[in-house]
Amino acid sequence: MAKVGAPEKLITKDGLRLDGRRLDEPRPVKLEVGILKRADGSAYIEQGRNKILAAVYGPRELHPRHLQKPDTALVRCRYNMSPFSVPERRRPGPDRRTIEISKVAREAFEQAIFAEHYPRAGIDIFIEVLEADAGTRCAGITAASLALADAGIPMKDLVSAIAVGKIDGQVVLDLTGIEDNYGQTDMPVAMMPRRNEITLLQMDGHFTSEEFEQALELAIKGCKILYEKQREALKTKYGGP
Ligand code: CDP
Repeated sequence: MAKVGAPEKLITKDGLRLDGRRLDEPRPVKLEVGILKRADGSAYIEQGRNKILAAVYGPRELHPRHLQKPDTALVRCRYNMSPFSVPERRRPGPDRRTIEISKVAREAFEQAIFAEHYPRAGIDIFIEVLEADAGTRCAGITAASLALADAGIPMKDLVSAIAVGKIDGQVVLDLTGIEDNYGQTDMPVAMMPRRNEITLLQMDGHFTSEEFEQALELAIKGCKILYEKQREALKTKYGGP
């Protein structure tokens, strides 16, 4: 049964989505590196209607000291949504969803960061969602990856992330809020594009195995588009080839 307020269709007769995009087209993206003075590294992303800040502190001596690891740095991540980021004011403070997203975002980076270069240190990643319209964990990861690079933290590769999903029975790239709400499937993916290594894959909903193959291929394509934009943003800040 259609939900109250649901649009009749998410894909129009001419095969375009409600915001005019093709099925395999990502939302417009704007990236900026190094915008916060007091953080060791920072970045800002706008992806469609998402507006997200990422800040990184470290590597620095980890407190409390009992958390220190003798042979590696401890990577921590906090994803937070501001109360004004969503249509219905969100109660401040962590909830199940933000705790889960913080965990999967941290795991997406743990595989990329050379944490063993900094024994006993802490690396703290903060993702602050100012405005949300679906895909915020992915956009947050894309921005945090730039903040880590801006902080000079050595990584195997940048991490890029984007969601794919299914709406009106079709596999599409980079869902908006309305597509996420009224579609059938949402699958966020993060990867190190140059190494072709996936560092996050979640799924809400169902895909057939053929759809899954198609969706994964589309997510990889989307991550590669973002990767080029991330590299451009770093070049804008630091120059170089
Ligand atoms: O943002 P992301 O797609 O990674 O996570 P989600 O849990 O699938 O949330 C999808 C979207 O629902 C968010 O981006 C917000 O636009 C919206 N949302 C909301 O309106 N209120 C919340 N408390 C949480 C999410």
